[in-house]
Amino acid sequence: MPIPKCSEDLTNLPPYVFIQVAKFKNNAIAKGKDIIEFAQGNPDTPTPKHIVESVCDAVTNDPTTHRYPTFEGIKPLRDAIAGWYKRKYDVDIDPDTEVLPLIGSKEGLGHLYCTYVSDNDYIVSSNPSYPAHYFTVNMCPGKLHMLPINEENNFMMDLKAIPQEIADKTKILILNYPNNPTGRTIDDGKIFDEAINFAKDKNMMVLNDFAYSEIYFDDYYPPSIMQHPEAKKYCLEYNSLSKSYNMAGWRIGWVVGNAEIIGNLKKYKSFIDYGISGFIQKAAVTALTGDQKCVEDMRKIYQGRRDAMYKAFKAAGWELEKPRATLYFWAKLPEKCKHMKSIEFVEKLIMEEGVVFSPGSGFGPHGEGYVRIALVESEEKIKEAGKRLERFLSKM
Ligand SMILES: Cc1ncc(COP(=O)(O)O)c(C=O)c1O
Repeated sequence: MPIPKCSEDLTNLPPYVFIQVAKFKNNAIAKGKDIIEFAQGNPDTPTPKHIVESVCDAVTNDPTTHRYPTFEGIKPLRDAIAGWYKRKYDVDIDPDTEVLPLIGSKEGLGHLYCTYVSDNDYIVSSNPSYPAHYFTVNMCPGKLHMLPINEENNFMMDLKAIPQEIADKTKILILNYPNNPTGRTIDDGKIFDEAINFAKDKNMMVLNDFAYSEIYFDDYYPPSIMQHPEAKKYCLEYNSLSKSYNMAGWRIGWVVGNAEIIGNLKKYKSFIDYGISGFIQKAAVTALTGDQKCVEDMRKIYQGRRDAMYKAFKAAGWELEKPRATLYFWAKLPEKCKHMKSIEFVEKLIMEEGVVFSPGSGFGPHGEGYVRIALVESEEKIKEAGKRLERFLSKM
């Protein structure tokens, strides 16, 4: 007897970008290639020692953390998240009603869609974008409207380009600054003002994905949407410990903002999951309230890699624009490779030189013509990648 077919929505989705790239990578490994991997924004340095010690202590000495966790997250963690906003942005957040810890922000994004979006509702996202911002819409009844961001609009969303009939049906407007994959940053809260003014007379929330809040360079400092005086009326802000504390494998993030929306998301999640393991929540408290030198050190590592990559790739004949934040260079295909699709370029470079990038098309239709390069290898490997790239380009 045949097993049932999976849902039409899932069938219609292409494989997740990193799964496609992993296939190329495995083929190259099978042919003996040495791999240098810049595809996924997966921090390669370890979680700071005091955070690891904290999880060991909790799991060893606090058996209450072995039980089902509470749906709303432990109070010390909610306090620590509110404290993070006070310390960094002088914003008051109510830890009891305006914070929800998440099993990583990716989980919380998908479940927010399920919480709020019905058949005829829209989610508006820029494109290219983090895949979970737009692919996930296929898994819920709503529809997606993409706002292209590109060189012509300086990679900024043009909210005026949203047709009125779509704006009227939009429930969630997603912003993401600092931006993945483009590395686009904002100097002030102008786009937050615009988005809130756009949303306030409609039935719409504004969400800023702030996953890269701590990955900034030179004299740049990213603004938060929660600094806006009306943010608590219309907004949510998502964040994650994945990049800020090298805790991607631990699966912990959070959302703050409008209390009613947070309450509804909490209700939805109470039927789906049991929240984050207690020992991981305790370690997250250590991360957020402990010495922040580890975050400073991590920024220095990424900034050193960014500069090394700029130099090495320029020497190979490919000049990239340096990002002021995030883990990513968003690079137009080299002149000699312009005729190729980004996925072809990525596959060829992996198979010939073992250097792994993400194809721009994996971030949506408006990402074609670009690749995303993550700063997740050492400076030494970056220099080696530069040499391989030079050899690759000289043969094109
Ligand atoms: C913009 C953005 N949001 C969310 C995430 C996922 O974060 P988490 O690990 O907390 O699920 C990522 C991961 O790359 C990201 O780039």
